Amino acid sequence: MRKKIVAGNWKMNTLPAEGVVLAEGVVAGRGEVCSCVNFIVCPPFTHLSEVAAALKGSDVELGAQNCAAEAKGAYTGEVAASMIAALGCKYVILGHSERRQYYGETSETLNKKMEQAYANGLTPIYCVGENLDEREAGKHFDVVKAQIEEVVYNLTAEQFADLVIAYEPVWAIGTGKTATAEQAQEIHAYIRKVLADKFGAAAAECPILYGGSCKPSNAAEIFAKEDVDGGLIGGAALKAEDFLAIGKGFEK
Ligand code: PGA
Repeated sequence: MRKKIVAGNWKMNTLPAEGVVLAEGVVAGRGEVCSCVNFIVCPPFTHLSEVAAALKGSDVELGAQNCAAEAKGAYTGEVAASMIAALGCKYVILGHSERRQYYGETSETLNKKMEQAYANGLTPIYCVGENLDEREAGKHFDVVKAQIEEVVYNLTAEQFADLVIAYEPVWAIGTGKTATAEQAQEIHAYIRKVLADKFGAAAAECPILYGGSCKPSNAAEIFAKEDVDGGLIGGAALKAEDFLAIGKGFEK
């Protein structure tokens, strides 16, 4: 049985005190959602410590949105995987399309970040996904395949057993335009096949999340698909009520 995961990517939103209120809201309402759903919140670095305190005693887990490619040293402005792990993070989002697009993250950088994550006991949530031009040109399968081959294929079997993948079509992120449940299933099944080509039966255990304008009104339909194991949620994760309602999508 694959893990069911609803992860909130807060991006560069909320001040620390607001983040604490949001995390408290998630903790307070969490009991209304099946304990089979694993909730993860990924606030900005600056809030990790306070949000970790707010999550204490609950089963809501903490993740960061990025980590440095290097272990430590003279890298002004960077935050090491060891630092976020020390603050209580269990997960780190890597390869988000916004990082690839605005900060030039390449597979080469991401390989190093993945190594740092594993070296510090963090589970990467590795993001893949095509942009609109690529989708319209019918290249989406090739794009996600390359993003997986260039990074995930370099993992050991042991590392792969501790990986979450998020499929996020760039054209659906923050646009209100969601992939249909059928589009999500089609590409999730394809991703699982690409993973199985390298890792065999272990691919059946890898959670693959959908991301891109996922909200309470569409989560149930998307999560009902066989190869969709949850969501990576941006905008709708900024309201505890919506975030939790997305988790309820598994019950419908
Ligand atoms: P969105 O973002 O839910 O606001 O579309 C998802 C993401 O980028 O992780």
